[in-house]
Amino acid sequence: MIGEAKLRPPRGTRDLTPEEYYRYAWMERVLSDTAELYGYLRVETPAFEHFEVLAAKAGPSVVEEIYYFRDKAGRELGLRFDMTVPIARVLAYRLDVPRPVRWYYFTKVWRYDEPQHGRYREFYQFGVELVGSGTPRADAEILSLFVDCLDRVGVEGYVVKVNDRRYVERLIDAYGLSGRRDDVLRTLDKRGKVPDDDLVESIAGMGIARAAARDMVDRVSREVSIREAPHMMREVGLGELADRYEALAAVGRIGERAVFAPYIVRGLDYYTGLVFESYVPRYGLAIGGGGRYDDLLEIYSGVSTPALGFAIGVERTLEVLALQGRLDVGPPRVDYYIYVFRGEHYSAGEGLASGLRRRGYRVVLDLGDRSLRSALDYANRIGARRFVFLGPREYERGVVKVRDMDAGTEEEVPLGGLA
Ligand code: HAM
Repeated sequence: MIGEAKLRPPRGTRDLTPEEYYRYAWMERVLSDTAELYGYLRVETPAFEHFEVLAAKAGPSVVEEIYYFRDKAGRELGLRFDMTVPIARVLAYRLDVPRPVRWYYFTKVWRYDEPQHGRYREFYQFGVELVGSGTPRADAEILSLFVDCLDRVGVEGYVVKVNDRRYVERLIDAYGLSGRRDDVLRTLDKRGKVPDDDLVESIAGMGIARAAARDMVDRVSREVSIREAPHMMREVGLGELADRYEALAAVGRIGERAVFAPYIVRGLDYYTGLVFESYVPRYGLAIGGGGRYDDLLEIYSGVSTPALGFAIGVERTLEVLALQGRLDVGPPRVDYYIYVFRGEHYSAGEGLASGLRRRGYRVVLDLGDRSLRSALDYANRIGARRFVFLGPREYERGVVKVRDMDAGTEEEVPLGGLA
C-alpha cells in the first residue's frame, strides 16, 4: 500500500477528474475556435527541451523556476515553462513556414513556483504567437484577439493594462539609471506584490536620490486611458512610438478595454516593446499576458524576426469565471441507462443500445451484476437522464419502461420506438 499523502498528486499539480476536465475541454474549444477565426493554426511541441534553449532568454526569476533534469545519457533538459520559447525555437529552423506565422496552443507548461491560489507547478496555457511582423497592425491584431478570447469565454469587467518597455526604459535613462536597466525593470515587476516604499528603497539603492526614486515610482504607478499614452510618450521624446499607440488606441475594442500602465514590465526577459496583462476586480493575479519579443528568434537562428503573442492561464480564468458565477459547464450526461432484468434478454438490450448510439445518444448498458434498485441508484448518481427497464413482461410485449430521472415520470415505449 501507498500512504494517503502520496496518493495525492505532487505539490502544485492537480488531478483533473471529469467534473473538472470538461471545463478545460470547454475552454479549449471556445479559445481554439476564436484563434481559428483569426486564421491561427494549432501546434504542439515536446514537454521537455534542451535546458540551454529554455534558459537563453527566460530571465533570472523564471530560470529559477525551470524543472531541470539530466536524462540517462547526461543531456541537460528542462520542462518548458511557456510555449513562446519552444515556438521561437521551431521557427528558427523551420524557415520554410510562410511569414507571418499564426500559431496557437492549448497545453501544459511547468514552473517551480510557490504553490498557492492561482499558482501551480503544472498548469495549462492557451496562447497565440504572431511571428514575422513588426507592424502596428500586428499589435492591433494580437490585442483584439486577446480581448475577443476573454469576451468569448465570458470573463466580465476585465481591463487590459498596456505598456511599452521602451517607454519605461526611456524613463529609467532619464533618471540616470541606464546602467541598471534590468535591475530597475525587475524591481518594477514586483509592484503590487510589495509596498511601493520598498520599490523606492530598492531603486534608491541603485544610486539615485530617494526623492528621485520616489518620483520615478510615482510616475510609473499612474494609470491613464490608453488614449493619453501617445502624449506621455511624446513628452519623453518617443514620437514614433506615440504614433504607434495612437493607431492602437483608435481600434475600437482595444480603446474600450485598455489602460496605459507604465509599471507593467512583465517578468520574462525576452520582451522588447509592447507588453500587456489583464486583470479583473477581486482576483489579484493576471489572467493573461503577452507582448512583443522582437529579438528572441534571432538568438536561436541569427535571423532578425519581429514577433508577439500572449498566453491566458486556463486555471486562473476558470477560477475567475467561478468567482463571477459564470461557470456552468460539466461532463456530458448519459442519455439512457438500460437495465435488462434477465440474462437471456441481454441481446435485446444490446440491440437497443446500439440503435440509440447510432443515433448519437450516450448509452450505458448495465453490466448485469446488480439489483434493479442498486442500478437505479447508480444511474441516478452518474446523472443519467433516462432509465430504461427491460423486464420479462416487457420483453414479451415488445416494450420497455422508460423513466425520466429528472421528472420522476415513467412511460411504456415500444422497443422499436426507442431505437
Ligand atoms: P506569463 O505571464 O508568464 O506569460 O503567463 C501567462 C499566463 O499564464 C499568466 O497570465 C497566468 O494566467 C498563467 N500563469 C503563469 N504562471 C502560472 C502559475 N504558476 N500557475 C497558474 N497559472 C499561471 C507567458 O507565459 C508568455 N509566454 C506569454 C506570451 C506569449 N508572451 C508572448 N507570447
